[in-house]
Amino acid sequence: MAIAREITDEKRHGQHYTPAELAQFLAAKAFGNLVDGRSQLTIVDPACGDGELLIAAAEAATTAGYTDGITLIGFDIDEDAVAVAKARIADAGLDAEITLGDFLVHQRSMPSNSVDLIITNPPYVRTQHLGQDVARLLAAEFGLTGRVDLTHPFVAVAARLLRSDGVLGLLCSNRVLTTLAGENVRRAFMRDELRVRQLYDLGDTKLFKASVLPAVIVASKSGPTDKPARFVSAYERPAVEGATTQPLFTALDGSEFSTALHNGKQYEIKVGTLVPPADTKTPWRLSAPDSDRWMEELERGTWKVFGDIAKIRVGIKTTADKVFLGENWDDAAPEVEDELLLPLITQNNITPWRIAEHLQMKVLYPYDLTSAKRRALDLETWPGTKAYLTSHEEQLRGRKYVIEGGREWWEIWVPQKPSLWASPKIVFPDISEFPRFALDTTGAVVNGNCYWISMDDIADEDLVYLMLAVANSSLGLRFYDEACGNKLYSGKRRWITQYVKRMPLPDPSTAESQRVVSLARSLASEGEVSRALVSNLDQAVEDAFIASASVNQSPVGDDLPTTLF
Ligand SMILES: C[S@@+](CC[C@H](N)C(=O)[O-])C[C@H]1O[C@@H](n2cnc3c(N)ncnc32)[C@H](O)[C@@H]1O
Repeated sequence: MAIAREITDEKRHGQHYTPAELAQFLAAKAFGNLVDGRSQLTIVDPACGDGELLIAAAEAATTAGYTDGITLIGFDIDEDAVAVAKARIADAGLDAEITLGDFLVHQRSMPSNSVDLIITNPPYVRTQHLGQDVARLLAAEFGLTGRVDLTHPFVAVAARLLRSDGVLGLLCSNRVLTTLAGENVRRAFMRDELRVRQLYDLGDTKLFKASVLPAVIVASKSGPTDKPARFVSAYERPAVEGATTQPLFTALDGSEFSTALHNGKQYEIKVGTLVPPADTKTPWRLSAPDSDRWMEELERGTWKVFGDIAKIRVGIKTTADKVFLGENWDDAAPEVEDELLLPLITQNNITPWRIAEHLQMKVLYPYDLTSAKRRALDLETWPGTKAYLTSHEEQLRGRKYVIEGGREWWEIWVPQKPSLWASPKIVFPDISEFPRFALDTTGAVVNGNCYWISMDDIADEDLVYLMLAVANSSLGLRFYDEACGNKLYSGKRRWITQYVKRMPLPDPSTAESQRVVSLARSLASEGEVSRALVSNLDQAVEDAFIASASVNQSPVGDDLPTTLF
């Protein structure tokens, strides 16, 4: 299988090179975990690009006292990169075997247990760019499941190639720590043969120029199995004047929480250990005494989680927004029948508790609104819409997957459940700095950059308000950060199904939960969203979890909590 030949353009190669300071950091951490006393040292970068990681590893080897017996081996499918790597490595006075070719093919002829150190920033190429066929081949050969990224086979191969005391130094997207799409990588580290020793979530430090946020994972094949991995995270925080700060790399090596100053910005550095994950689906979490105590207390007060109560759905995806979405249909396409134009909630329309009063955007939604299943309308009965869609036929037919999926060429790609729009629903944007969970009672459709939970699925109206309250509260926000913690640049958080379904709920039967419900009703209804009401709600949510923890305790329990948080 020539995987490289199947992937042609630059984007598909996942070419984001490692800057020197990050390469040196990775190499130093990897060497720190390599057992001394070898006479020979084989170092491999399976996707070496311009050779930065091999050079950094060779320098770290020299610092660690290795003067000779070092073999550097690199692979890359990019001819220019290979030429640059060879020249740079020679300039640095080093020898290396750099092969132009697909590592995933070459690795087949490499003996198992033959490499001391694999240092790599493998390509990140998602299934949508790899193509389904390549993804399927990779999954079969390397034992991968779910969403396959080109990063995954590179990690899967490492365990086989490394000697029994070998080390892997991996630079990858920090998404592998928490998202479902990172499950293949997490699985590789949960198998016995590869144990995580150190983990750095470098968050929005911008140490890496690509749009991905980087993480460094150092793993070894030998060593104690019961020693938890060191876990350090770095995320920008609002600057505090006069704060005591340290340079970023010093702070990353520290033994306690601190503030780093990097490129004029302040970063919160958390230092702890990796909570041993229960399974490959659970996001990796940083354990530190305060966070652990807080999470344990919260768990004692948790009755159910959002995912137990209802399905969380993403909004519609038209894959032709210019045709289906518009703010000014009367002028732009007066022929389209009004009945098929439904108000649309998009990210900007959502504030905590409420959606905007006037939804400007409307979606042309040609489906039977009485049917839960997607049932496209007969366009013959909607001549204006038919004429409008026909005027965009070429573009719409260009979406071959729609036709291959057995749909009409003029359909929306993901129309969701037509009959559910009319029911009240909780809606929230997929990306937002702070939680913005709102109640929609207008019957609007929800756009694909938001998620929604239908009241039809929840059955009990009080629970809807309890969910809204927890999600919008400061307790909910802290839970998100402790348990999911996947932030993007500028402190923006991703509120995806996988995280939101883990949100906790207190026992709804207590008086404290009932108070939360009543406050949430006020906040979601008309009138002012006052600061006082919001802070009352924050306190009420905490009280509800405390009360819920008491309900969960035995009635004669002696340690009933009075302050949890
Ligand atoms: C993220 S870059 C990293 C390059 C370099 N190791 C660094 O850290 O700067 C990934 C590299 O993988 C190469 N690549 C992509 N697919 C490959 C494959 N199947 N085998 C070997 N190299 C591959 C790309 O050409 C690119 O140079």
